[in-house]
Amino acid sequence: MNTPNHVAIIMDGNGRWAEQKGMPREFGHQNGVRSVKKIVEEANKHKVKYLTLFAFSVENWERPSYEVETLMRLLVETLRDEFEDLFNNNIRLNAIGDVKSLPNEVRYELGKIINNTKDNTGMTLTLALSYGGKQEIFKAVKEISEKVKNEIICLDNFDDSIINDHLYTKNLPDVDLLIRTSGEQRISNFLLWQIAYAELYFTKKYWPDFSEEDFTDAIIEYQKRERRFGKTSKQL
Ligand code: FPP
Repeated sequence: MNTPNHVAIIMDGNGRWAEQKGMPREFGHQNGVRSVKKIVEEANKHKVKYLTLFAFSVENWERPSYEVETLMRLLVETLRDEFEDLFNNNIRLNAIGDVKSLPNEVRYELGKIINNTKDNTGMTLTLALSYGGKQEIFKAVKEISEKVKNEIICLDNFDDSIINDHLYTKNLPDVDLLIRTSGEQRISNFLLWQIAYAELYFTKKYWPDFSEEDFTDAIIEYQKRERRFGKTSKQL
């Protein structure tokens, strides 16, 4: 069957999931980590080659400092204690976003696993951290303009690939399937360039409740879609 090569997920609803249970939002994030582990394993079983998770947006820095600190602590703990399976499962870790703005401890753990898994040949798991799609495009435009000014890039040869090469995702293919949990139906500044022809899948499940079966349902739904990329059915 036709498995999506690149699946991206907006893992939404941790806070509402916790609030519904009369618990603090942080409890939702803790349980969100459990879903991350399950879905990484499931995507790998489905032989998805690229899985990209929206773990922290540039806008998320505006949340109350306590919540930001909890998310950063959870990231460190998850990277340190929970991701050893990645190596054994031949998964390669990657990160996109303004990684420099993350606390030293997060950068250290991230760098360590990225380095330890760099020769793995299975699924590439990308964490979007301090990531914003508009900011990514802005950065690319700035770098390209600088290169045009210095005659490193010539406008006559300008094409898509030059833009791709200046994005955080330069080593990733375009997204085939974008999943968002929690019932919201918006993109929220995630991978704006890379989802141009992605199939969109929205589910009402909150992220901590999103199970292996739910992931499989999304893949099955994707397989039913006809992707025409602007062409007609007949031309495919
Ligand atoms: C959205 O739910 C989720 C986040 C902002 C953070 C996602 C983080 C995790 C799943 C845990 C850490 C991740 C890794 C990779 C270890 P929300 O807080 O916006 O929920 P709400 O919309 O119900 O308030």
